[in-house]
Amino acid sequence: MSLYSRHMKSAIGIIGLGVMGASLAQNFANKKIQVSAYNHHKDKVDALVKKANSPYLVGHDILKKFVTSLEAPRKIVLMVPAGDPVDETIKNLRPLLSKGDIITDGGNSFFRDTLRRTEELNKKSIHFVGMGISGGEKGALEGPCIMPGTSKAVWKSLKPLLEKIAAKDFSEKPCVVNVGASGAGHYVKMVHNGIEYALMQLIAESYGLLKGLYGLSNDNIATVFESFNDTRLGSYLMEISVTVFQKKEGTKGLIDLILDVSGNKGTGKWTSQEALELGIALPIITESLFARYVSSEKNLRVLLGKKINKSSKSESADLPPRDYSAELPPRDYSTELPPLTVFLEMLESALYGAFLLAYAEGFMMLDRANTAYKFDLDFREVARIWQGGCIIRAKMLKDIAKALPRKSGMLLTDKKYLKEIISCMESLKNITITGAITETPTAAFSAALNGFYGMTSTQLPSNLIQGLRDLFGAHTYQRVDKKGIFHTQWE
Ligand code: 6PG
Repeated sequence: MSLYSRHMKSAIGIIGLGVMGASLAQNFANKKIQVSAYNHHKDKVDALVKKANSPYLVGHDILKKFVTSLEAPRKIVLMVPAGDPVDETIKNLRPLLSKGDIITDGGNSFFRDTLRRTEELNKKSIHFVGMGISGGEKGALEGPCIMPGTSKAVWKSLKPLLEKIAAKDFSEKPCVVNVGASGAGHYVKMVHNGIEYALMQLIAESYGLLKGLYGLSNDNIATVFESFNDTRLGSYLMEISVTVFQKKEGTKGLIDLILDVSGNKGTGKWTSQEALELGIALPIITESLFARYVSSEKNLRVLLGKKINKSSKSESADLPPRDYSAELPPRDYSTELPPLTVFLEMLESALYGAFLLAYAEGFMMLDRANTAYKFDLDFREVARIWQGGCIIRAKMLKDIAKALPRKSGMLLTDKKYLKEIISCMESLKNITITGAITETPTAAFSAALNGFYGMTSTQLPSNLIQGLRDLFGAHTYQRVDKKGIFHTQWE
């Protein structure tokens, strides 16, 4: 049955017709769901109406008319930039809405803002739903992964609409589910982005090694990533890495014309900040964020890099020369590089292990957040909806969904998952060592390795930290031989 009739009101409304909002509106119209699209700039509305050329899409540049064009209870998706614009839009909308109407926020909003907005609007009997949407422009148009967090009742009215426009998982089920209570949708999307940072950084470090150590051309790197994409590493980010390396501008590879300074819009930062709040370690995700920050220190990097590369001691007086040990003859580590074929095998396995660990980090964070914020997450469903439409979609999410219990995000405690990771450890170690001895930055690989060592150590040297804390600050410690809290007069 068509959800459209010229006499019917729109089933859903979109506010904000930037790239994502416009694509989402077109996606609804393409699925024969009548959609009202609003922007206060008339030209944006006109452009979309012209582009969509669909009887299912109605454009508005007057908010009141937009609101009255929607069937009750109204379902409105905000596709405006996160932060103040969301509050501003809600402020303008609120007087026009009625009890029971639903506002969903499809932007990358901070989950605490979502909790606040939900509470404020609940007082007015208006539902507010934080809804993570992943997949970029193409995803929004052809099928995104959608992560709303709301009550069962609100989900019931959003479900039929969202299921129609979402991507499909490996079993052809829609990549949308009510992930949990209020705030959970944006939280899950935030963690998704943290994993996104980690996977991207691991691929970037692989590029650094292939180019720096083996001098591979862009075309050859594209070929390597293409072959990786055919393995268990198959993923959207690996696939689009091939496209990036293949892109030419004239005779040059575009990649060589792009400045090596990576930006960020803050969601990766929130993931790490939240990990600090929860008191959990996210080594790969956080190192990947730091790697972006390091990249942004371009001037300093160039200055220091030049100093270190100077061979004469007098010229680099303020920093030690690159050969740090004057007594030892410099080692030519390049002779220790394995043949490229062996290296590629190692790299594939190290990447696979590090990817598995990056997902494990994300799910562990979700597990802790689930307890702290009572999100009531279904972890298996999160892994399932990440199989399609989103930036971190990957073949391995099929096994991850199987490995996850519904009510726990602890992947590392799954025997099979742990075994898979262990089978990659030798390669992960080798890649990290290669990075270290060739002085090629591999912070994310190293974080994966050391994070795993830490998390699987039955005994850590942290007893010394406790001894030191107690000595200088009487911070007390616990003992292995008896229960209680102890303090010692050390001196
Ligand atoms: C997605 C993306 C998308 C975007 C973020 C993060 O799932 O579609 O995560 O939301 O990439 O804005 O980008 P930054 O790298 O700029 O933080």
